[in-house]
Amino acid sequence: MKTPKYLSGISLALCGIIFVNTPAPAQTKWIAPASANTLKNPGSCDAATMKEAKTIYTSTCAPCHGVKGKGDGPAAVALNPKPADHTSKAIQQESDGSLFWKLSEGRGAMQAYKSQLTDKQRWGLICYIRTLKK
Ligand code: HEC
Repeated sequence: MKTPKYLSGISLALCGIIFVNTPAPAQTKWIAPASANTLKNPGSCDAATMKEAKTIYTSTCAPCHGVKGKGDGPAAVALNPKPADHTSKAIQQESDGSLFWKLSEGRGAMQAYKSQLTDKQRWGLICYIRTLKK
């Protein structure tokens, strides 16, 4: 039997409704694997490292995380989930290794920086994030 044209139209419409109504997967809390906690900064948070980190943070991270790290950069408006507030207790309580892992691996709008920034630069940014504590 030939399917009447209007039926395929209806199924198309139904598909559209189902597609549009499917909620985005719930954004779960971002947790680094336990092994990340054992990662340690092989260098130090010396003055030169901090200076470079501040420059990178201001140019690369601030558009989303804000100059002061509060997660209120100009690009944050359009993002869901919002960029992390680096001054918050929750972030400051995370281990250096966990933050380093997230910065390296990324998730969603937070891109993976492991191929864009060297290990040293990424550890420097963790040093810098510690200075943003409230
Ligand atoms: C395009 C916007 C954007 C830029 C640029 C960006 N981030 Fe993010 N960042 C995010 C978002 C959004 C999240 C939250 C992601 C999530 O929870 O899925 C996040 C999360 C993080 C986290 C994890 C916080 C936590 O513990 O949950 C760290 C660390 C971080 N960003 C550091 C940085 C650093 C350092 C830079 C600069 C090199 C940077 N980000 C650049 C948007 C951005």
